[in-house]
Amino acid sequence: RPGEPPLDLGNIPWLGHALEFGRDSASFLTRMKEKHGDIFTVLVKGRYVTVLLDPHSYDTVTWESRTKLDFHGYAVILMEKIFNVRLPHYDPSDEKAKMKLTLQHRDLQALTDAMYSNLRTVLLGEPAEAAGDWHKTGLFEFSYSALLRAGFLTLYGVEASPGTPESQAQDRTHSAEVFHTFRQLDLLFPKLARGSLSAGEKDSACSVRGRLWKLLSPASLAPRALRSSWLQSYLAHLEELGVSPEMQARALVLQLWATQGNMGPAAFWLLVFLLKNPEALAAVCEELERILLQTEQPVSPMGALPQKALDNTPVLDSVLSESLRLTAAPFITRDVVVDMALPLADGREFALRRGDRLLLFPFLSPQRDPEIYTDPEVFKYNRFLNPDGSEKRDFYKGGKRLKNYNMPWGAGHNQCLGKSYAIYSIKQFVFLMLTHFDLELVSTDEEIPKFDLSRYGFGLMQPEHDVAVQYRVRP
Ligand code: HEM
Repeated sequence: RPGEPPLDLGNIPWLGHALEFGRDSASFLTRMKEKHGDIFTVLVKGRYVTVLLDPHSYDTVTWESRTKLDFHGYAVILMEKIFNVRLPHYDPSDEKAKMKLTLQHRDLQALTDAMYSNLRTVLLGEPAEAAGDWHKTGLFEFSYSALLRAGFLTLYGVEASPGTPESQAQDRTHSAEVFHTFRQLDLLFPKLARGSLSAGEKDSACSVRGRLWKLLSPASLAPRALRSSWLQSYLAHLEELGVSPEMQARALVLQLWATQGNMGPAAFWLLVFLLKNPEALAAVCEELERILLQTEQPVSPMGALPQKALDNTPVLDSVLSESLRLTAAPFITRDVVVDMALPLADGREFALRRGDRLLLFPFLSPQRDPEIYTDPEVFKYNRFLNPDGSEKRDFYKGGKRLKNYNMPWGAGHNQCLGKSYAIYSIKQFVFLMLTHFDLELVSTDEEIPKFDLSRYGFGLMQPEHDVAVQYRVRP
C-alpha cells in the first residue's frame, strides 16, 4: 500500500526469505539494507517483518506503548516453544517490576559480593588448580562455565552457610552438573527457537530439559543456603500466580537461561580480544594495579573487591563496551497491534500494518556502522575513551549525535535488568583472571574465531570453535 516500507517477498511462496534469514541474519539484512535502505519489509515464514536499521529512530520504537507495539507476544511464544513454560495470568510488566528491585537497586551490592565469593570458589578452590600446574582448556568453555556456575550459586543458593571446604567442593560439583546440562540445551537453542530440530535432537532436548527441571525444582532448591532475594521473590510471585511446582521448575530453567546465557560468552570475547591485543592487555593490567594501590583497604585474596575499585575502571569499561559492540547481536522485536504510522527521525513517515512484526537489529547499525565507527570490524580497546581518560559518549551519524550508539543491553521497555550485576560480575572475573592466573594462548597464531552464524538474534554471539589456552594459578 502507498506509504508502507518497500516490500521484498523473496522467491519462495509463504517461506519468503526464511532460509537465508535463519542461516545468517546479519548477511541477509545487510544485503536487504543495500537494496532498500534502512527500512523495508520482508516475508519470513508467512509473517511480514518490517526491519528498521536507523538508530536515530530506535527510541520511537523501543519506548512506544504496548497498546501499539507489543514486546511480550514474541517472548511468550519463545517461552512456550523452548522451555515449555505456560504461566496463568502472566503479566510480564508485573514480573519485571519485581525483578527490578532484586537485581538493580536494593540488592545489587549483596549479589555482587556473593558473586565474587562464588567466582573464587569455582576458580580458585580446586586443590588440583592450587598446585600451580599448567592446564590446557578451551577458553569459551572455561569462561562460560566459570560465570554460569558462580552465577547459579549466587542466584539459586549454595550448599551451606558459612561455607566449609566440603560444602564448597559440593558447590563445585553441583554447579558443574548444572552447567554441563544447561550447555547441552544451549547448543540446541537456535534450532529449538526456529523449530528445526531433527527427531534425534528433539529427543535429546526433551531429556536435557527433564534433567534441568529436576536440578532446579523448587523441592531441590528448598534446602539451599544464601538463596538470593531475586529467587525468593520470583518463587513467591509464581506461588501467587498459583503455578504448580512442576511449572515453577520450568520457569526457573527459563530464568537460568535469561540470566546466565550471555555473561560467559561476553567474558570469553573480552579475554580473547585482550589475549590478541597485548597493548590493550597492558593498559587493563596497568589500570588494575593503579586502582588497587589507590584503594584504602588492602585487597586480600579472600575479601570482597572494594566497590570503588569496580567503579573506577574506564579502560576496562571501554574494553567491555568494545567487545560487546562487536559480539552482542540481539533482535529487538515488537508486534504491531494496530495499524499505525511510524515517524522516523529524518521526517519520513511509514505506515505499519496490524499483525506484522517490527525488528530492530542494532548489531548492524549502530554497532557495525562505518558511518559511526571507523574500521567497525576492528577491536580498538580505547574506542570508548576520551584523550583525558574519561568515557567517550559522543558518536555521530549523518552529522547528528547519537543517543543509542551501542546497544548490547537492548533499549527502552525491555532493557536488560541485570546490566549492572552483569558488568560487575564480568569485571570481577577478569580481575581474578588477571591477578591470580597466568593465562596464554596455546598458539600465538590462533585467530579470533568466526561466529556461529545460527546465533544471530539471541544475544551474545558464540564462537564457531573454541580457542585453546593454557593457564595456571600463580604460585
Ligand atoms: C553480558 C551479559 C548480558 C547481556 C548482554 C544481556 C542482554 C540483555 C538484552 C539484550 C535483553 C533484552 C531482551 C529482549 O529483547 O527482551 C535482556 C533482558 C533481560 N536480562 Fe539481560 N543481559 C545480560 C546479563 C543478564 C544478567 C546477569 C541478568 C540477571 C541476573 C539479566 C537479566 C535480564 C532480565 C531479567 C531481562 C528482561 C527480560 C525481559 O525483557 O522480560 N541479564 N538482557
